[in-house]
Amino acid sequence: MGQKIVIDPVTRLEGHAKITLQTDDKGAVQSAQFQVTQLRGFEKFCEGRPFYEMPNLMARICGICPVSHLIASAKACDAILAVRIPPTAAKLRRVLNLAQLIQSHALSFFYLSSPDLLLGMDADPAKRNILGVAAANPEMGRGGVRLRQFGQHIIELLAGKRIHPGWAVPGGVSEPLAGEKRDEILAMIPEALATTRKTLDWFKSNLENYRDEIRTFANFPSLFMALVSDDQAAYYDGRLRFVDAKGKIIADKLDPARYAEYIEEAAEPFTFMKFPYYKPMGYPGGIYRVGPLARLNVARQCGTPLAEQEWTEFRSLDRGAVLSSFHYHYARLIEILHAIERVQLLLDDPGILNHQVRATASINSSEGVGVAEAPRGTLIHHYRVDEQGLITWANLIIATGHNNLAMNRGILQVAKHYVKANKLTEGMLNRVEAVIRTFDPCLSCSTHALGQMPLQVRLVAPDGLLLDEARRN
Ligand code: MG
Ligand code: NI
Repeated sequence: MGQKIVIDPVTRLEGHAKITLQTDDKGAVQSAQFQVTQLRGFEKFCEGRPFYEMPNLMARICGICPVSHLIASAKACDAILAVRIPPTAAKLRRVLNLAQLIQSHALSFFYLSSPDLLLGMDADPAKRNILGVAAANPEMGRGGVRLRQFGQHIIELLAGKRIHPGWAVPGGVSEPLAGEKRDEILAMIPEALATTRKTLDWFKSNLENYRDEIRTFANFPSLFMALVSDDQAAYYDGRLRFVDAKGKIIADKLDPARYAEYIEEAAEPFTFMKFPYYKPMGYPGGIYRVGPLARLNVARQCGTPLAEQEWTEFRSLDRGAVLSSFHYHYARLIEILHAIERVQLLLDDPGILNHQVRATASINSSEGVGVAEAPRGTLIHHYRVDEQGLITWANLIIATGHNNLAMNRGILQVAKHYVKANKLTEGMLNRVEAVIRTFDPCLSCSTHALGQMPLQVRLVAPDGLLLDEARRN
């Protein structure tokens, strides 16, 4: 008799999710569905609002990645003004975006995933958290906490507050950077670099222990998409590039504002979350991944010396693109390293203290698209306004959406490997969750709701009979 295993919701992820596994007569997993309870309110709420309120309003979509929404939204508003923002403003927004990447990647790696990596996928779930990490490896625990604080503190210094900063505005930023603040950031860089390098060394020396996970954690051919500039991953702007599983460029220098020409969103009956795919290859053949792994796969160079070395070593893992989503973790660490180096370069430029940071204009375009790389991947904000500048229509495509197809497929791959018959083992459950965590989905963004909930797992036969159930907090 076929059965259904429901994991609801997933722990150590931001937000609220549910996984349903459908088994066949022999107890083998046949299909997997990843659901988030999505409230698509924000695209509707903002209709009728003045466009210049959008960056601040959009930053409230998410308590996890407000900075990413702030930046994409401010860029969409720049397009409505049809201005080129002052170079210093663009540099300051870059620093803000990189700081967000550092703090978010540190949260993902140290708080959410390092418990599995350090303590093992089969360790006591009560110990698999940042406190367990701090007990087992105090240096790593402390380093991770401080690295996240480093990113958060930069955001605070630039934008005034960590959560929902409103400093990026249409046309630039609201305030220039003070010299003392720049110096304070620069003084924190050596420790952040040292922590990241040490963690990378530790991670690489442990890769052998994760052969099974590398082999089964969403390890399959797909396309990869990211913003690129000068053949490097571009976090703040650039043009979109798609590469295939062999690492071959299949589309390049695409205008991000014309995303609708090459990205289409499919719908599935089991979830409100859409399934974007690369249009020329159809659905679901046009499956692509975004985020750290994608950015390192689309790039042909890294652009900063320490990260360049690590990137070269990383890309030698596979002949083509690096395909295992387990390596999102690895890519995340390399990106932290790159981001710290970039922040240093940006702040070493004396022009960063320039006071010309905001262009003003009236409405010069009835439509604006803002695209940036959020920590989790490409983030698209698209607005239309009337003659008074009131929003008439908005569309957002978030990173977690782009990865939706790949996450579903990854869950199926892991479940097929680790789910045996109708037994709900802790190790199996944790691996199903762990594959999702590799993508670091921002479920707060996907659901537009905050909060974590306990795990619920249900094993259900096709006739609806509950065969087994497990719960944990
Ligand atoms: Mg949308
Ligand atoms: Ni978010």
